[in-house]
Amino acid sequence: MSAPLLSLSGVSRAYGALKAVDDVTLDVPAGARHALIGPNGAGKSTLFKLVTGSVPVTAGTVGLDGHDVTRLPEHQRARRGISQTLQHSSLFLSQTVEQNVLLAAQRRHGTRRSLVPRRQTAARDRVRALLDDVGLAARAGTSVAALSHGERRQLEVAVALACEPTLLLLDEPAAGMSPAESARLVGLLRSLPESVTVVIVEHDLDVVFALATSVTVLHLGRVLLTGTPDEVRASTAVQEAYLGTGRESLFLDHPGPAHLEVS
Ligand SMILES: Nc1ncnc2c1ncn2[C@@H]1O[C@H](COP(=O)(O)OP(=O)(O)O)[C@@H](O)[C@H]1O
Ligand SMILES: [Mg+2]
Repeated sequence: MSAPLLSLSGVSRAYGALKAVDDVTLDVPAGARHALIGPNGAGKSTLFKLVTGSVPVTAGTVGLDGHDVTRLPEHQRARRGISQTLQHSSLFLSQTVEQNVLLAAQRRHGTRRSLVPRRQTAARDRVRALLDDVGLAARAGTSVAALSHGERRQLEVAVALACEPTLLLLDEPAAGMSPAESARLVGLLRSLPESVTVVIVEHDLDVVFALATSVTVLHLGRVLLTGTPDEVRASTAVQEAYLGTGRESLFLDHPGPAHLEVS
């Protein structure tokens, strides 16, 4: 077992009396495809923010590749290889698809380097390859405002990959995607090299179970269970956490060793 790339210890985030994330301890090994699931409001997006540093923890420590990054600001954590797609898009709407990815690549490498024409060409080639990977090659010159919802999610993945992350955090990347777009996303994420560790928050359990090597279930800010996909499917506690959320049917589509019984 390789050393954890991401190591959370007793991580909490309170908003007044509400514990959005409550004492989460979790190790994600380098190279893992780790899924984070749980009902709406479980604290998944907040946990991502604590990892990226866009929101400070109120308790606990965040370790990245053996270093304590708890007190590091967001941009310094990004420089250490954390990249994310947000649940709510942060694309430049008036720019083209290609420009959005190019800007992300330039932020990664610094603008000075990208002023050298040879490197500009290399950067452009890499952007084209990324757009091809996510299925947007034909849309390179289109402005983001004209993209469908699913296409924007694909673009967000390309933008995140342009930052050459070691830890890629994806917050509901398949939301609003067609089944074909989701399948392409899964294919892309599966094809990423092991040097990219992936943590994905996703409601579409087809995507989760097609991709994840391990799964953590959050409920009311706390870790309900971390285990293999099969262990999660079989867990009564997990099924109960989803009861009444309208998502229990997703587990019916994924009968594991134990079946969900809805009375
Ligand atoms: N900035 C905030 N201020 C107050 N409450 C928040 C804030 N962000 C999130 N919350 C609350 O924290 C809980 C977890 O939210 P979130 O992390 O977005 O859940 P999830 O992504 O699992 O749906 C929710 O109850 C939400 O209302
Ligand atoms: Mg969320």
